[in-house]
Amino acid sequence: MISLTPDELLTTTRAVRKRLDLSRPVSKNIIEDCIAVAVQAPNAGNRQLLHFVVVTDEAKRRALAQIYRKCSESYFASPQAAIASGSGDRSRDSAMRRKFESELYLNAHLHEVPVHVIPCISGRTDSVGVAAQAARWGSIFPAVWSFMLAGRARGLGMTFTTIHLHREAEAADLLGIPYETVMQAGLLPVAYFKGSKFRPGLRQPIAELIHWDGW
Ligand SMILES: Cc1cc2nc3c(=O)[nH]c(=O)nc-3n(C[C@H](O)[C@H](O)[C@H](O)COP(=O)(O)O)c2cc1C
Repeated sequence: MISLTPDELLTTTRAVRKRLDLSRPVSKNIIEDCIAVAVQAPNAGNRQLLHFVVVTDEAKRRALAQIYRKCSESYFASPQAAIASGSGDRSRDSAMRRKFESELYLNAHLHEVPVHVIPCISGRTDSVGVAAQAARWGSIFPAVWSFMLAGRARGLGMTFTTIHLHREAEAADLLGIPYETVMQAGLLPVAYFKGSKFRPGLRQPIAELIHWDGW
């Protein structure tokens, strides 16, 4: 385990893409340990609705990467334009450029990432209101974040991605996930990370987003 204070762990668990070690195998045990941590996260009604589909099979990872790429085509067409024009804020522009390059890298190498984890939750909420949506998604995202934190503490890097959900049914078909009754929440490409330093990310100053006693 890497020695980090709670605040260091929480503020340095980044989206890891270019620094994924694509050649180092990841054991089943370490993934299970991270999932054991993840399921301790809060969830609405403690209803035990979570599932994790862990994909190590090379052909299936390749097929998932193809689905991901079909979904990302239009996404990559748009930020490219934003980057070219720039916002006038140099540090923000360079952070956006780095993010874009990193996303392109993951897009190209996704099939090489040794483990793809697809967190799922029972029950579809496609047609329900905000409260039910919040309860359902809020029952899986804390677990996903805990999985990422548990991974970081063990030397694993990953990025929470959702873009393949534009073709969720195709991925469900590939992996035998019962689409009618189970939702996928994303895809986490997991590998050991290279290097040891991670810094807090660029964020909006909190004074701009806190609203004491009302908006
Ligand atoms: C809901 C959600 C969806 C995301 N989807 C993708 C994605 O499809 N592909 C990707 O490369 N990164 C994706 N990300 C990662 C974000 O780009 C990343 O978290 C953000 O730029 C902040 O960077 P940081 O996590 O390193 O601070 C997603 C993150 C979240 C929370």
